[in-house]
Amino acid sequence: MTPPKLSRREFVRTAALTGGSLSIGGIVSACGVDNHHHMPTEPAFAAGGGQAAARSPLRIPASTTPGGFVLRAAPGTASIVPGKSTPTWMYNGQFPGPTIVAGSGTRATVTFENGLPQPSITHWHGLLVDSPNDGHPRQVVGPGGSYSYDFPVNQRAALDWYHPHPHMMTGEQVYRGLAGALIVRDAVDTGLAGNPLGLPVGGYEIPLIIRDASFDSRGNFQFSNKSSGFWGNTPLVNGTLAPYLDVSRGVYRFRLLNGCNARVLRLALTNGATFTLIGNDGGLLDQVYALSEITAAPGERFDVLVDFRSLGAGGTVMLRDADAKWDVLEFRGTGAAGAGTLPTGALSTIPALASPATSRRFTFDGMTRINGKVYDISAIEFSVPFDVTERWTFVTNGNGPHPVHVHGVVFQVQSRTGGRGRVYEWERGWKDTVLVHDGETVEVLIRFTAHRGLYIMHCHQLAHEDAGMMANFMVV
Ligand code: C2O
Ligand code: CU
Ligand code: CU
Repeated sequence: MTPPKLSRREFVRTAALTGGSLSIGGIVSACGVDNHHHMPTEPAFAAGGGQAAARSPLRIPASTTPGGFVLRAAPGTASIVPGKSTPTWMYNGQFPGPTIVAGSGTRATVTFENGLPQPSITHWHGLLVDSPNDGHPRQVVGPGGSYSYDFPVNQRAALDWYHPHPHMMTGEQVYRGLAGALIVRDAVDTGLAGNPLGLPVGGYEIPLIIRDASFDSRGNFQFSNKSSGFWGNTPLVNGTLAPYLDVSRGVYRFRLLNGCNARVLRLALTNGATFTLIGNDGGLLDQVYALSEITAAPGERFDVLVDFRSLGAGGTVMLRDADAKWDVLEFRGTGAAGAGTLPTGALSTIPALASPATSRRFTFDGMTRINGKVYDISAIEFSVPFDVTERWTFVTNGNGPHPVHVHGVVFQVQSRTGGRGRVYEWERGWKDTVLVHDGETVEVLIRFTAHRGLYIMHCHQLAHEDAGMMANFMVV
């Protein structure tokens, strides 16, 4: 696979660190912590060091269902850096928030309560809900306010997620801890009506919310929301600094989310392990894809199986970010007997969209504009007919990454020209977020089949979004 083209920033950072290649086999070297750029302040806590003693068990967020659920965003403190407590903003006192598990065909009734000192609203990223339930920035409620959601969950099984969506404050609120996983189940996937594909379940299915952060010497988050974007200097997985996970000799299903504000992750495994990709933003792919690395932009999700059946007691595999050279999560073999096999053959049917009736072109300009315009919360920039296939082209000259996200829909990526110049396996099937990197043009086919009403599209580099790289549109 061709390595993705590095932006100038990435290139400078990579060059400033070791030129060392990904460690496959043998001893996993201690990682370099990326503190050369972006946050030149107090010393960082080095995560990802190879020393076993420095790692903590991976947190697994508690799960819940969305019927009659109260979701409260409020300040609190979390134990992230050993021996320190970090002031955070959390959903229901948890960092990250609880994992919401919803069966397709069930109803979600959620009361969002805003205990923050700022306006907020919750968006269900990936859920195909009507406009009043979408968490549009116009729907913000002030401190002390609340918002009632009531909608049917009716879509393919997938890993989705929820996070705040107030205009100009999303970056800070997500960074301070407001994000959680949302898993939709259906009869094809696991959890409803059996498990036809034999996918890993129970303790073998684990959400991994990967994000970056920077801490000062007292354990406080460091943050700045300048529109060039925030790159933290250490990775967290499910809010855990330098985590490990004990694994038995089985097959695990990891539901991966890039929850970073701006950082694109290039995920890889050490010691010869590979990802068996089975799904992405919009659920299961047509078939499995064996991959040695996956490029994950903010907002994108990946459903991967990892086969630890030959990992003996004491053996380790590291999940790495090959760009930052971070050791993100260490898998430690326990040697215990485990369950599972890798599926082969077809996973699901993806009907191809075709014959677009209209083409639209969107340029992602600088760090603040789409088609030359900074977001105007009261404007409707364009209307899209319901249930008609269109071709949308996303273009940028620079200032990437621009992970382009569209609400209320899933789309199919057709082509990428310029930049990395190809569509990757993890961009097949149904997507709601696609990475448009410097110099790239990405074409998608898109058809709004779920609801009419007000939606938005925006860049999921949260500082770009907050600075105005967002547009309202109406499905009519
Ligand atoms: Cu994940 Cu409009 O956002
Ligand atoms: Cu969304
Ligand atoms: Cu952008």
